[in-house]
Amino acid sequence: MNEIAISVKNVSKAYRIWNDPAARIKAPLWDSLGRLMPRQSSYAGKCFEKAAQYFHDFYALRDISLEINKGECIGIIGRNGCGKSTLLQIIAGTLQPTTGSVQVHGRVAALLELGSGFNPEYTGRENVYMNAAILGLTKEETDAKFYTIASFADIGQFIEQPVKIYSSGMLIRLAFAVQTAIDPDILIVDEALSVGDEAFQRKCFSRLKLLQAEGTTLLFVSHSTQQIVHLCDHAIFLDEGSVLLLGPPGFVSKQYESFIFATPENRNRIKESIRGTTTCDSVAIADPAALQREEIMSDFVKNLMAPKSQEYASSGGEIIHFELRDNQNRVVNLVPSGFAGVVRLRAHFNRDFHDVVFGFHIKSINGLELAGLTYPSMQAKLVECHRGDTMEAYWHVTMPFAPGTYFFTFGIRSVSQPGFIHRIVDAMAVKVVPNADSFSFCIFDISDKNAYGLEKLNGR
Ligand SMILES: Nc1ncnc2c1ncn2[C@@H]1O[C@H](COP(=O)(O)OP(=O)(O)OP(=O)(O)O)[C@@H](O)[C@H]1O
Ligand SMILES: [Mg+2]
Repeated sequence: MNEIAISVKNVSKAYRIWNDPAARIKAPLWDSLGRLMPRQSSYAGKCFEKAAQYFHDFYALRDISLEINKGECIGIIGRNGCGKSTLLQIIAGTLQPTTGSVQVHGRVAALLELGSGFNPEYTGRENVYMNAAILGLTKEETDAKFYTIASFADIGQFIEQPVKIYSSGMLIRLAFAVQTAIDPDILIVDEALSVGDEAFQRKCFSRLKLLQAEGTTLLFVSHSTQQIVHLCDHAIFLDEGSVLLLGPPGFVSKQYESFIFATPENRNRIKESIRGTTTCDSVAIADPAALQREEIMSDFVKNLMAPKSQEYASSGGEIIHFELRDNQNRVVNLVPSGFAGVVRLRAHFNRDFHDVVFGFHIKSINGLELAGLTYPSMQAKLVECHRGDTMEAYWHVTMPFAPGTYFFTFGIRSVSQPGFIHRIVDAMAVKVVPNADSFSFCIFDISDKNAYGLEKLNGR
């Protein structure tokens, strides 16, 4: 049976919003006055009513319930202000819920959005010792880990300087090094990694993967759906303080993207359709193993389609056709590794646009974005399209992918307007089949089929 690491039960959090700065003084005064009156008197009630006029409660979280098993990695996504940090702070124990309860089993380390928990006047070294002590390490244990922490943070001699002079990237380097060095049972990371430079982010992800492999439970907030897909077992889509969707990261990310890229007038409708979604792994039906052997022999497999393709509401134009063709101009969706062909995207416009961009990208089976192309290119003049026009963009492509199923997302957008004119996520699935002499795996086929071998050497 799975062991529960974090249990969140009916948690709500209300923040008090004051009408104006003076209300912070006036409300407690009326409140205190009410308390001085006899309890049941109408004067007391009037005082409390008066106090309540100076503020209202804003619910940042509403009735959240979650159970997270030991060793799971959960990603949380959602728009700015939807309550992600509030939820993480409540789980980390730095904020009290208004109602509901949280139970956490094991040693918790947290990299929260607001501050690193460091004392600005202390040096990096002193803060490492102070933080480690708070996390439950003895001085001897910290002595033993100090070199590992300092070398992971890699901030050189600045470790002996007060942290008030650190850059935000340096602060997060040190905070991440300390929090992950204590081998926490539960690690909470709130967007912290985006501050570090790319090399450091890479190092952090390796460290997170290692902690994951060792059984650490990970709670991870990021605006990058790619990071969530890469790292997490499940994803939670929070909206306005409630869980809108919980499911496989690729699936939840796709729904989230359809929501944030929607035009404002379509957003509520999309939200309602997401609320009604039952989560499922969008690629399950297109799994190569599910295909019949005889179907694999042909170049076009009828059943090989992305069964959960997500279509955004169109606004001024519509994608009416897309396809992949081989060099004999046949429509294909079953191709060998290293295939060369043409991707075509046709759209019809029912409004004038002077700045249209056509594009597509290719995702792996677990939602990782692998490649994408636009027309026109970044530097070229944008496309003018008129009401009634049908336009077809095409790209000659090669697909140097290892065997597996890949998903194409198509979109058209106008640079000067928010959202997409039209977009279809995972519109087309293409299966890359092994060549006779194939030996590549993972995502890209980097082999040179004519140049590989095994040599026996003399000596060492
Ligand atoms: N101390 C506070 N007093 C009043 N309102 C607050 C307070 N802290 C947060 N809020 C509000 O609660 C809501 C949720 O905030 P939270 O920081 O959890 O959002 P978030 O999802 O982490 O956003 P972001 O992506 O921008 O980090 C927001 O509307 C925010 O304005
Ligand atoms: Mg936040």
